[in-house]
Amino acid sequence: MTVPVSGYVYDVAVAGERARSLRGVLPEWARLLYAVKANSFGPVLAALACDGGVDGFEVASAAEAVASAAVLREAGRPVRLAAAGPAKGTTLLAELLDAGVEVVHAESALELARLSALGQARGQRVRVGLRVNPQHVALTGTLSMAGHPSPFGIPEADVPAALALAHRLPGLDVVGFHVHAVCGNRDARAHAAYISWCLSWAVRTAAEHGVDLRWLDVGGGLGVAYGGQEPLDLAVLGEQLASLHVPARIEIALEPGRWLAADCGWYAAEVVDVKQSGRRPTSSSAGEVRLRWYAARGDIAAYAGIPGLDQACLLEEELARTREGLGPGTVVRSRTACSVRSRSLLAPGDARSGRGCGGVGAEARGQRGERRRAGGCRGVDGQGR
Ligand SMILES: Cc1ncc(COP(=O)(O)O)c(C=O)c1O
Repeated sequence: MTVPVSGYVYDVAVAGERARSLRGVLPEWARLLYAVKANSFGPVLAALACDGGVDGFEVASAAEAVASAAVLREAGRPVRLAAAGPAKGTTLLAELLDAGVEVVHAESALELARLSALGQARGQRVRVGLRVNPQHVALTGTLSMAGHPSPFGIPEADVPAALALAHRLPGLDVVGFHVHAVCGNRDARAHAAYISWCLSWAVRTAAEHGVDLRWLDVGGGLGVAYGGQEPLDLAVLGEQLASLHVPARIEIALEPGRWLAADCGWYAAEVVDVKQSGRRPTSSSAGEVRLRWYAARGDIAAYAGIPGLDQACLLEEELARTREGLGPGTVVRSRTACSVRSRSLLAPGDARSGRGCGGVGAEARGQRGERRRAGGCRGVDGQGR
């Protein structure tokens, strides 16, 4: 019995190029971090940390922090890590600090207290940015994370109380704020306006509440152009940001995830079943083609560094060639990989590949790292289980 094949294939040079192109348009005051949750495959991280690439990483688990720090050390770069994510317990916070996280984005009063206790025990003041859930942000995208109840961040109305608490806690150094309010925004002017709004808000709030503002992280949210959409205009983003007046001591971090990683990854899988239903169904859910990506129980593999990989057929050849070499492993069904467009000419046994899948790779699961394995996350099927 043969096992159907599925796998992620990465052209990591593309990731490096993305990082350099974005870094290249950002002003001096900007720090470019990569949100590792988008894809933590080691060779992708290493490529992003190339010369002229990202300055560091934004992490959401101890595993991400350790891997990111190792990549930066390996590249001979300073270890610059910021950490965010709700429900960070004392053990995770300690692990993040041990891994060299330089700013922890705190999401609750209890987290502030835990961090202060850790700081005191270590004889240091932990650098903390308050993660804020703003009341209103005038920026749209596929996902708006502001202005409604959420586990992420401290509601804007509660920020004064959180800052008052933070000032009383001896183990903290409050360096600034973190806002991650949107995903999937491809409007460069609107994104620059959002960053400008974050800056004004941070400067005003810091002045009102006695914060020595040195750090502002404006999150991710740069939108990937999938399937012929208008891409984000980097030149316009750079121009707009260059016109912002940023006070000298303030670093502003951008932490995109998918925009940096999506284009370097391909997902390919063997077609297991094809079926016709109706005259012209336009989506796989309509049932014309039933592609089983052999996701829940088969194999997943990640291959790094296939140079010049720019066409699906190359990937399919590669997949066919490596088929024999795939050992049993883990399957993750990617969200975008399942939206199949071209359905003609497929038959069971063909390989089908999807581009733009680097932001939903095999490693894009297990936020806290506890379900990770070297090759992916066994037992996670892409449905969040
Ligand atoms: C705190 C934080 N920063 C950055 C990102 C990256 O977002 P994106 O992939 O939209 O750039 C995320 C994604 O959920 C996030 O939660």
